[in-house]
Amino acid sequence: MANRTELSKDETAESYDALASKYDVRWKGYLENTHQKLLGQLRIHPSDRVLDISAGTGYLAKYIQQNDWEFGEFVLNDVSSEMLGKAQEKVGSDDRYRFTGYSAEQMSFETNSFDRVISMNAFHNYPNQEAVIQEVYRVLKPGGMFYLLDWNKEGLFRVVNYWIDKLTSETIQTVSVDDAEALLSSLHFNIKNKQTWHYRYWNLFLITVNKPEQGK
Ligand SMILES: C[S@@+](CC[C@H](N)C(=O)[O-])C[C@H]1O[C@@H](n2cnc3c(N)ncnc32)[C@H](O)[C@@H]1O
Repeated sequence: MANRTELSKDETAESYDALASKYDVRWKGYLENTHQKLLGQLRIHPSDRVLDISAGTGYLAKYIQQNDWEFGEFVLNDVSSEMLGKAQEKVGSDDRYRFTGYSAEQMSFETNSFDRVISMNAFHNYPNQEAVIQEVYRVLKPGGMFYLLDWNKEGLFRVVNYWIDKLTSETIQTVSVDDAEALLSSLHFNIKNKQTWHYRYWNLFLITVNKPEQGK
């Protein structure tokens, strides 16, 4: 029998496929909170190629479109085709957006090809987190920025996390902010900013890092 990690990528995608039509409404407050934190850090230049590796229903892409942020290209990637379908409906026929369905551990993008990479509210879903960070490093241009926002497994949130893990078929592998920072540093990223905060019963973190200018 396959173990949970082998099964989990498909089960995670299926779980999000089933949730897609309710996702934005169910998680409205949480999405507003976490996106406002990211938007406080995110800087995009008019020619930038931006990659959201787990874009979900495209909440971030829509915000950027609605607020007339300038960018070169915005790629929305996700393993759940239903979540991406919602994102496509949201941004409409704007040809600056592209959609891909790769697993974040292995994405068929060229090396050194993005200025900004984002992973929001999804790191706990990745069966192989180290492989995802290595892949993000590969696809980022030297000097490019990576924004990692996710649950912070510290304090009482460990108990909440235990129950979330019991109640869902998704992969749930939450890390603490210190674990995430150590992993990013060990995989050659420079830490630029680190924030932690609470929203209702969630503990969250946002770490902003860059790939060194001389990084290969
Ligand atoms: C909680 S949602 C977050 C979506 C969006 N970033 C947001 O903040 O609303 C997690 C997303 O990660 C996607 N996901 C899970 N595992 C993934 C993987 N291995 N590669 C790419 N996307 C993945 C899921 O399909 C889901 O859309």
